Amino acid sequence: MSVSAPTAPAPAPAAAPAPVGTPLPADLPKPPGLTWRVESREPVGYDVSIVRGLLNPVNPVLARACGADGRTPARCLVVIDDKVDALYGERLRGYLETWRIDASFKVLPGDESAKELASAVEVTEAMTAMGLLRRTEKILAVGGGVVLDIAGFAASLYRRGVPYIRVPTTLLGQVDAGVGVKTGVNHGHHKNRLGTYYAPETALIDPEFLATVEPRHITNGMAEIIKMALVKDAALFRLLESTAAHSTPRSLAASGPAATEVISRAIAGMLDELEPNLWERVLERSVDYGHTFSPSLELRADPPLLHGEAVAVDMAICVALAHLRGLLGAEDTDRALRLMHTTGLPLTHPVFTPDLLEEALRDAVKHRDGLQRVPLTDGIGRVRFVNDLTRGELERALEFVHHRAAALRDPAAEERAAEDDLVAVAS
Ligand SMILES: NC(=O)c1ccc[n+]([C@@H]2O[C@H](COP(=O)([O-])OP(=O)(O)OC[C@H]3O[C@@H](n4cnc5c(N)ncnc54)[C@H](O)[C@@H]3O)[C@@H](O)[C@H]2O)c1
Repeated sequence: MSVSAPTAPAPAPAAAPAPVGTPLPADLPKPPGLTWRVESREPVGYDVSIVRGLLNPVNPVLARACGADGRTPARCLVVIDDKVDALYGERLRGYLETWRIDASFKVLPGDESAKELASAVEVTEAMTAMGLLRRTEKILAVGGGVVLDIAGFAASLYRRGVPYIRVPTTLLGQVDAGVGVKTGVNHGHHKNRLGTYYAPETALIDPEFLATVEPRHITNGMAEIIKMALVKDAALFRLLESTAAHSTPRSLAASGPAATEVISRAIAGMLDELEPNLWERVLERSVDYGHTFSPSLELRADPPLLHGEAVAVDMAICVALAHLRGLLGAEDTDRALRLMHTTGLPLTHPVFTPDLLEEALRDAVKHRDGLQRVPLTDGIGRVRFVNDLTRGELERALEFVHHRAAALRDPAAEERAAEDDLVAVAS
């Protein structure tokens, strides 16, 4: 069969332009319009699971998440925290090999100072270098909140989004950074100023990673757990009162019932709050508790404060604000501050002055679209939002916390002062 080129029709002679003002012929097709509206919705679904023994070669969960079945070769890009790589890299490589997953590794430093745009760009370059397939090959992010936020941010940017899996390895990662949909990097003096909402395919939480986390970073994660207890879960608060002082990396990593309950209650509470408002359309968010003043503090403190430590200093102010407004009784106020203190969290920081608090609140107002929307505890386990905090209140709250923190640090001095007061009154 031969195919011949169609003969082109002879060009029509150019019509003379119609004089201006000539009416349009009635049989012209209707124009398609000048304004279009497009509406679309994308369902978001991902699993968060606590899975012990994630790196045990007989455990298929991680391999399945990477799309491997152990028979057909698969590939992935592992974006991993440098300390986690040093501690668990060999086991992870052995695991991936067992499951016939050909993995490229991109090792990144953890810690806040590494959380910058350049790191995310480096991750996208690693994707290019390995020739990542856009849908079937995944990013496996393993590390603390910093590496998870960077890897998730890079995954959301690369070809406008490639799938990724989160394996959080710090306490803060396991109860907070690893379970939501936010990604991001710091920019200028601002925390997470560049970021996206981008859900992982799955988040796999293995508390066994916590065994090697430095105690200060465990305390850091406890701050977010205390937050969930204060805003949502009075039973978790009581559980923390009886366990928090003895929470060590090893006790949390072990499969004891109290540790498992603390972690799972914290995750459940967090997801319960996040799920109906994943894109933060509603800006009154109880999980923002402790996150009003802390973003301005975290990057300014020198030596730097960890995220959870800055959150604790913020929560202490908010506990005082609630107390001074009559929302939190004296006993519950004392319990809240005492729990943070016995956990090893700071309640005060010299950078936190009334001026900085005011400035931080102004920034929070921008972030919260024009209103303060500050969550305050309304009894332990509940919140209410306020929009009318004044500088005077901030000053009084700061003074209150300084006084209580000094008493918690040195109860004997507090008792002596009380006795002196009594003597002064009696004489
Ligand atoms: N995306 C979110 O929704 C969200 C929520 C909360 C916090 N965050 C972010 O999370 C970050 C803080 O996360 P982080 O506290 O996990 O800090 P991090 O990621 O810096 O980790 C803390 C330290 O622990 C090391 N490490 C990690 N896993 C370890 C392990 N198993 N054993 C030993 N060492 C280990 C890291 O190398 C690092 O030195 C902040 O940048 C914060 O903005 C994000």
